[in-house]
Amino acid sequence: MSIFFKGETRRLLLASSFLFASCLLQAQPIAIQLKPSETAPVINKHIYGHFAEHLGTCIYGGFYVGEKSTLVPHTAGVRNDVINALKKLKIPNLRWPGGCFADTYHWKDGVGPKEKRPTIVNQWWGGVTEDNSFGTHDFLNLCEAIGAEPYLAGNVGSGTVQELADWVQYVNFGGISPMSNWRKENGREKPWAVRYWGVGNEAWGCGGNMTPEYYANEYRKYATFMADWNNTNKIFRIASGANSGDLNWTEVLMKNIPLHMLEGIALHHYAVVNWDKKGSSLVFTEDDYAVNMRVTLKMEELIQQHSKIMDKYDPQKKIALVVDEWGAWYDPLPGTNPGFLQQQNTLRDAMVAGVTLNIFNNHADRVRMANLAQTINVLQAVILTDKEKILLTPTFHVMEMYNVHQDARLIPVQFNSPKFTRGTESLDAISVSASVDKNGKTHISVVNIDPTQKHSLQLEIGAGKKTVSGRILTSARLQDHNSFEQPEKIKPQLFKDARLNGNQLTVQVPPAAVLVLELQ
Ligand code: AHR
Repeated sequence: MSIFFKGETRRLLLASSFLFASCLLQAQPIAIQLKPSETAPVINKHIYGHFAEHLGTCIYGGFYVGEKSTLVPHTAGVRNDVINALKKLKIPNLRWPGGCFADTYHWKDGVGPKEKRPTIVNQWWGGVTEDNSFGTHDFLNLCEAIGAEPYLAGNVGSGTVQELADWVQYVNFGGISPMSNWRKENGREKPWAVRYWGVGNEAWGCGGNMTPEYYANEYRKYATFMADWNNTNKIFRIASGANSGDLNWTEVLMKNIPLHMLEGIALHHYAVVNWDKKGSSLVFTEDDYAVNMRVTLKMEELIQQHSKIMDKYDPQKKIALVVDEWGAWYDPLPGTNPGFLQQQNTLRDAMVAGVTLNIFNNHADRVRMANLAQTINVLQAVILTDKEKILLTPTFHVMEMYNVHQDARLIPVQFNSPKFTRGTESLDAISVSASVDKNGKTHISVVNIDPTQKHSLQLEIGAGKKTVSGRILTSARLQDHNSFEQPEKIKPQLFKDARLNGNQLTVQVPPAAVLVLELQ
């Protein structure tokens, strides 16, 4: 006997059976295969780099309070609380002095006796007066204090080849020369051996509004004279790269710059929805959040597209793709100088950091360096300061949890993610990357961007693992954040919802969470 239902009844029955089926589907754990391979690339620690520009209160007030400060404990003017926090991140490299500022910066203004240094106007960022009290020595000594390699961005837009060649000689040459002698007079005997050098910044925009053809020629000229003064530490020259999806920029540079003159090519991509109306860093809806996550996840497509072009000219992958500016960019906080790019940092930003770092890890063959913008008080900062007060943002905690991947061998992962659907967006809810370190420990980082739906994962991890432990970063609301009143509202907690059973690991991932698991 067959039963026929009509009209509304039929629609109701269909809808409820669809709901029932999707509940059943949601109850199914997501199967994830880990595929360890000796030939998988090593995740370069430099993917976990940071960026410090003379912008707003990143340098002045953020890193540096000056040698005379009595309010904040410091070492040669650099805040001790910042030094201690950054050591925990294991920052591999720090980019300085910009950004747009780099193409207005004349490094000779920032060395020698501080009282004699000229002042300039920071024309890009708020029109404030820059007294050059934080200069080359201050920055390079700071890098030594936090154990980071410096990444200096040279001035191509308003500088000269001679000026940049002199900077290389000043910081890297051990013998007798006008520049190395001047360095010694200024109190530093031994060169710093700076390896990473940016040849301009955003040459397509604030760095000079150049065409890629023109910049490629400029690059060749600058790169020729950036001599390797220190033979033990070959310098690594990074060409100013594309703005997000500008594939032609990468194509022209790869075509016109001989490979032996280039070690890295940059890419900048900010998770911005609308440059004229970026939205608040604190007040947003789930629909807004979904759009933010879409532009964040675009990093995957961008890396694939730019890498494809690089593969054409450099099939052996000698040249690194250096994502030396990435992160979320919102409207400035109300009441702050709009040129200071100051924003808060919520659980949403932890999601941005977690999925982006997973994308970088999974593309470790080509992405070998990256810099989150920016370290303190600017854009997606890891630290916020207010005079003597300091707080660590959710993004700080993600960077700290993920540092276990630095220099570990990538373990490729395979799975189909369920969707997170809001408003007009339908995105992969789950993002994963994994690696095995030199001591044989496996680390798996998982992000669930869905703010309401938890997910159950079943991971095939292979034989021989005996214990699992982990930490999780989450909070009740996407808008939750750390403030000077409540600086530890969001911080990593021990994660207890992972079970090991032979070759299988079962993990219950709560909504809006970043977790890092360790298997031994
Ligand atoms: O990070 C802020 C600015 O964004 C940088 O100065 C510039 O390079 C980019 O446009």
